Amino acid sequence: MKRVFIDTDPGTDDALALIVALNSPELDVEGVTTVGGNATLADTTRNALRLLDHLGSDAPVSRGAARPLRGRFEYAYHVHGAAGLGVRLPRPRAKPTTERAAERILRAASERRGDLTLIALGPLTNVARAMRREPRLAEWVEEVVIMGGAVEAPGNVTPHAEFNVYNDPEAAQEVLTSGAQARLIGLDVTMKLHLSRNGAPWAAGGSVSAGLANRVLGSWFRTHPSSCRYHLHDVLAVAAVVEPGLLQYKRARAGVETRDPERRGKTSAVYSGGPVRVAVDVDAGRARELVRERLSASFHLAAGR
Ligand code: RIB
Ligand code: CA
Repeated sequence: MKRVFIDTDPGTDDALALIVALNSPELDVEGVTTVGGNATLADTTRNALRLLDHLGSDAPVSRGAARPLRGRFEYAYHVHGAAGLGVRLPRPRAKPTTERAAERILRAASERRGDLTLIALGPLTNVARAMRREPRLAEWVEEVVIMGGAVEAPGNVTPHAEFNVYNDPEAAQEVLTSGAQARLIGLDVTMKLHLSRNGAPWAAGGSVSAGLANRVLGSWFRTHPSSCRYHLHDVLAVAAVVEPGLLQYKRARAGVETRDPERRGKTSAVYSGGPVRVAVDVDAGRARELVRERLSASFHLAAGR
């Protein structure tokens, strides 16, 4: 069982990633921290609370950054829909912790030295702020698994930059050069994994998870009538923690362009060894099979957690 913290900006693919994480007995989701990005911090935090409550998880949610280290977030409501999720969920019983995300991450990593994996599914602002506060975080975490970047692939915000890194390039640069063991799961591989419009129902069976996954995906395809594919960016990052063999990696030193306005947010890698494993290929067939299975199941409900 791998102890994980999930830093997230839900977001429809973040929502699917949370379902997969909570339904994977290989993972113990100790906490969730929220960040702005796909939507405002208020929306991503509300979405995280409602998603976890709906899925029967008691993982605490701690609010993080409403702005990047420099500038402001460029939100993606046009991608993720109303309030950043596109589907309405009941008001949650839980409230966010009073402790903020950076402190929560530091406290958990300090208590779990070497036995905590951070899964970052949004801009890396919270992780960077925690590292600025306590640089030893880079040694305390087992690894930081990042959905972000586009090394050999084009970006999805500019030709060079992927959304999470584009929204806080300084944070991504600081985390990737912190010396922490990291996995960079970028568009190089996530653009190879999608669900198709005509694949509905995407999750099988009558579980709460399957119902929610199908609602999120159904809403997304309805609001994007010209799109035939839904890319599982954040879902693949979580799946890669569940089943590391899904991806092939090359060890590298990675960095992010922060000064050149045209290339700002571009991730680059020098493949000469280093603390960052850049994902370069994916077993898409196995990944799709695993994702479908975990979107459909309800392990944690079965386990009575
Ligand atoms: O580029 C894809 C990433 O940006 C995903 O994390 C998605 O949720 C958005 O945050
Ligand atoms: Ca995300």
